Amino acid sequence: MATSKSPWWKSAVIYQIYPRSFQDSNGDGIGDLQGITSRLDYLADLGIDAIWLSPVYRSPQDDNGYDISDYCDIDPMFGTLADMDTLIGEARKRNIRIIMDLVLNHSSDEHPWFLEAKKSRDNPFHDYYVWRDGNEDVPPNDMKACFGGSAWTWVPDVQQYYFHQFSVKQPDLNWDNPKVREEIYKIINFWIERGVGGFRLDVIDQIAKEPDLKITNNGPMLHAYIREMNRHTFGGTDLVTVGEAWGANVDNAKIYSDPSGREFSMVFQFEHIGLDQIHGKEKWDLKPLDWMELKKVLSKWQTGLHGCGWNSLFWNNHDLPRIVSRWGDDGKYREESAKMFATLLHGMQGTPYIYQGEELGMTNAPYDISDYRDIETLHIYRDRLAEGYAEEDVMRSIHAKGRDNARTPMQWDSSENAGFTVGKPWLKVNPNYLQINAAEECNTADSVFAYYKALIALRKKYPIFAEGDYQLLMGDDPDVFAYKRTWKEQTLYVICNFHAKKLNEVIPEEYRKGTLLISNYAEQGSSLKPYEARIYLEQRN
Ligand code: NOJ
Repeated sequence: MATSKSPWWKSAVIYQIYPRSFQDSNGDGIGDLQGITSRLDYLADLGIDAIWLSPVYRSPQDDNGYDISDYCDIDPMFGTLADMDTLIGEARKRNIRIIMDLVLNHSSDEHPWFLEAKKSRDNPFHDYYVWRDGNEDVPPNDMKACFGGSAWTWVPDVQQYYFHQFSVKQPDLNWDNPKVREEIYKIINFWIERGVGGFRLDVIDQIAKEPDLKITNNGPMLHAYIREMNRHTFGGTDLVTVGEAWGANVDNAKIYSDPSGREFSMVFQFEHIGLDQIHGKEKWDLKPLDWMELKKVLSKWQTGLHGCGWNSLFWNNHDLPRIVSRWGDDGKYREESAKMFATLLHGMQGTPYIYQGEELGMTNAPYDISDYRDIETLHIYRDRLAEGYAEEDVMRSIHAKGRDNARTPMQWDSSENAGFTVGKPWLKVNPNYLQINAAEECNTADSVFAYYKALIALRKKYPIFAEGDYQLLMGDDPDVFAYKRTWKEQTLYVICNFHAKKLNEVIPEEYRKGTLLISNYAEQGSSLKPYEARIYLEQRN
């Protein structure tokens, strides 16, 4: 329940669907829109308020839909515009809004704009993209693309290079061209008119790039472009908007999510996600997680945005490994650790995001390289072997961080292919679906699913989850992550044991004197069992 002044998304929980892996309805092995519609009752039962749908637009699928060739149509692999309308309408009946994923930094190289743009320098679409002169053997500079190789690709017909921060099939759009911005606003308004509930904006902090200065994110025009987009599209509506911003820090997140509504509702920032990689290196260069750093970083964001911005809260998405496997324990304490991470996050201020399967405690998928499909994983495998890395080390990194860990098909039940498809799944189903699946968990009182459902219900019932301030407790304790949230006459105490060991420290009586709202163990003592988590609510007078 939001307070009268709060926008709906402040007390909402958002569920991310990666459509190709959620539910297949036609047996081609790829999830689709009709499949999603058929699972809406499951999501309504979980209690979520909105679905962020990863891209379903027409696309050659070089980067699984993050390479769009028509922003106003649905890829036949996922269905039709009529299927999309049905999904929006059926979701609305269940009080669930649909959030579209806008990929506006780049299009596909098969988008009609790019097909025109590369024909000649005086083509009216040429300036829709970012071009630089040069000669065939010498690119304008040494910038690298995210998915391997140079960020510059030569087009002989125009004797120029185009710029692409991601794959060669994802040319960057030129936001400095006002016509491009107008086209983008038309696309956004097209979806607003179709009744969507909001937008997630892909790598939005990279749109104002300045390649000559090697600037990718946080370019000088970034906030001016976002504000203009806001004014021409979703500004003043009740839509939720969340920008993906790997380059966000607390200071610029305040600008993005300023309560005046000039930019977005919130951004995804990734400071906590980056804590398991060696500073200054790539995500594949692993470092053990330092829990004290995690406490510090999450606390900094909680206090930094309180009252002047808004946090998104997440552990997982389609680009990240599964939290139970990465920082929790996907063996003996899978359920306890999945619930502990959920408690830690859902107790905080912000809008929590649940990535499909997280509510079941789904785990990473340590496959052979031939079983992975992700463009990023396949590139890094080739590139690192070519650079002389041992295969074993490369695979260790891929098993820990590869994006396909999150993209294995949703585990619905114990039938063949986990109930995801009657065909051959595009990516192998994680063999642990016999033990971990929705059918089983929906019928089990103390399942991970039941726990997520209870956490979501708490956020709806008690405004303190959305409104309360944040104070870290036991800050020097290396094992316990505890904090309190205060609002009016209430205080929430959230207490979590990070580890697989039982702790002997005594949790102060003061933290435990309220009503226990939730815990992942049936009995609570003064010390904490492995991965134990609790939330207490204290009501004064
Ligand atoms: C971020 C998306 O989450 C990721 O999946 C994609 O590959 C890149 N942006 C490029 O669009």
